[in-house]
This record gives sequence, C-alpha cells and structure tokens, in this order.
Amino acid sequence: MRKKVSIVGAGNVGATTAHWIAAKELADIVLVDVVEGVPQGKALDLMEAMPIEKRDVHAVGSNDYAATANSDVVVITAGIPRKPGMSRDDLLQTNYKIMSDVVSKVVAASPDCFLIIVSNPLDAMAQAAYKLSKFNRERVIGMAGVLDSARFRTFIAEELKVSVENVTAFVLGGHGDTMVPLARYSTVAGIPITELMDKATIDRLVQRTRDGGAEIVKYLKTGSAFYAPSAAAVEMVEAILKDKKKILPCAAYLEGEYGIHGLFVGVPCKLGARGLEEIIQIKLTPEEQAGLQKSADSVKELCGVIGV
Ligand code: LAC
Repeated sequence: MRKKVSIVGAGNVGATTAHWIAAKELADIVLVDVVEGVPQGKALDLMEAMPIEKRDVHAVGSNDYAATANSDVVVITAGIPRKPGMSRDDLLQTNYKIMSDVVSKVVAASPDCFLIIVSNPLDAMAQAAYKLSKFNRERVIGMAGVLDSARFRTFIAEELKVSVENVTAFVLGGHGDTMVPLARYSTVAGIPITELMDKATIDRLVQRTRDGGAEIVKYLKTGSAFYAPSAAAVEMVEAILKDKKKILPCAAYLEGEYGIHGLFVGVPCKLGARGLEEIIQIKLTPEEQAGLQKSADSVKELCGVIGV
C-alpha cells in the first residue's frame, strides 16, 4: 500500500509541499484547508499533472480532517505568514490558536502519525504541537534547519562559484534572528569554508542566512518564502518514509542535550522510520554554545507567552 501524507494548509507552502511530494512519487496526498474549494482545486490540478510527470500519486483536497485519517506523516503549514516589517514572533498568538485547532483534529484522525511542523514562529509552534498532541518527541519534528542551511549553502555556492552539490552547511538554534550557522562544520567538497573564505566574507553570508526569510518577504510583500521551505519539509518527509537515517538539522525537543531541557531548538537529528531516531551531539566552542543558549532563551520566552 502506498504511504499517505496529509498537508494542513493549502497556501503556497502547503501546495508546494504537495508538489514536491508528487514529483518524487513519495506518497498519496491529502491537502486540507479551511477555505472551501482551494484544497480540492489544487489537489485535482496536481493530480492531473501526474500522467505528464509519469508519477502514480493520488491527491485529494478537503475541508474535513476525516480525509486525513491514518496518515503516515502530517505536515502542518497552517497559519498566517509574515508581511514586510513583521518578525516571525509577531505571528505567535494567531498561529497558536490555529495550531491548537489543527493539532487536535489531526491527532484524532491519525493517532500514529509523524508531525512535521512548518508554521511560524517555528520552534514555539513545534513546542505547541508537541504539548497539544501528547505524542512522544520522536514523532514531532520542526522544519527550520534544513531551510536555513540550504540558504547558507546557496550563498556559499554562489560566492565560490561551485556546485551546490559540493556544499554542506550546518545551522543550529532557533529559526530566527538568533540562529547559529556553524562555519567550521560547513564544507565544500569536504573542505571547511573557513579554509576557503576570509572571516568578513563568511560573516556576510551568515548574516544573509539569518535574514534569509525576511529578504524574501521584502520582495513578495504579501507572503513569505515557499519553494525552499516546502522542499526542506519534503526532505524530512522522505527521510522518514524511506527510513534513510539521514542527519538533518531539525527542531527537536531537547531533554538535556546541549544543556537544554524541555525546549524545541534546532540540532542535528537522525531521521528514519521511527521519526527522530537520534540527536547528534557535537562539541561546540564556548562562543557557539553561547549562541545556541541565546537562541534557546528566545524560544523559551515565546513558549512562555503562550504557556507551552
Ligand atoms: C522563512 C520563513 C518561512 O524563513 O520562516 O522563509
């Protein structure tokens, strides 16, 4: 039987998530949204592309969570996006209300699924979903590090004029201004970028990575990024469905790892058929550890506001 992935939110991020999943023939897809007609129309349109793309994927749209029953993975993208000048944190209260409603319905329909959280402010929304679902931490994972590191990799590849395939990058911490890109663990064909670029250049690329989401919001004006965020979510979905044991930077619930307790923060995670199979602990310099702690503190503050 084919795997089933439901996507909550049929906006740009949700619909493009469906698109990547279909293009990779990963699973049958259910797209859910409160807006009548939009998930139905987008799912049907996507399914009609499948004969051209030679993929056997069934896609259906619905306003009713009954359609999502027994999903293997549910990707939650629901929520309002940023407008220019807004921070991700400005979305906190509105998106928490949406998250509360969504998680209860998702969990009722698919009590054994894995949840991948994409809504912002990411780390606080992942924490909310974890608490609301009462799932164990292996089954609730936040998408941010894959996106942030993809942005860093893009900028490194452009700067050095090399293939993106040669570039790996690591970004830790929350998805926000306090994220911690780790230059010494970022490589081009295995060579640390600290050997290939001067500090000023690396600092400039790090800053652009931190501001990566805002850079897109400024262009789009009425919404935020969606191609890269959805591709990032789908890399996580694929790692779980195919039991790839892939190490990816994700937001995970820490229980003492990196000295952080009871909080979602971005760290290297191994994703496979059991979801979050392992948190990889790497040795950080005092400066990197301080950066991660600062990032965790800002996540904690947001979680405090919504009481999760
Ligand atoms: C971004 C938003 C989606 O980083 O958080 O583009």
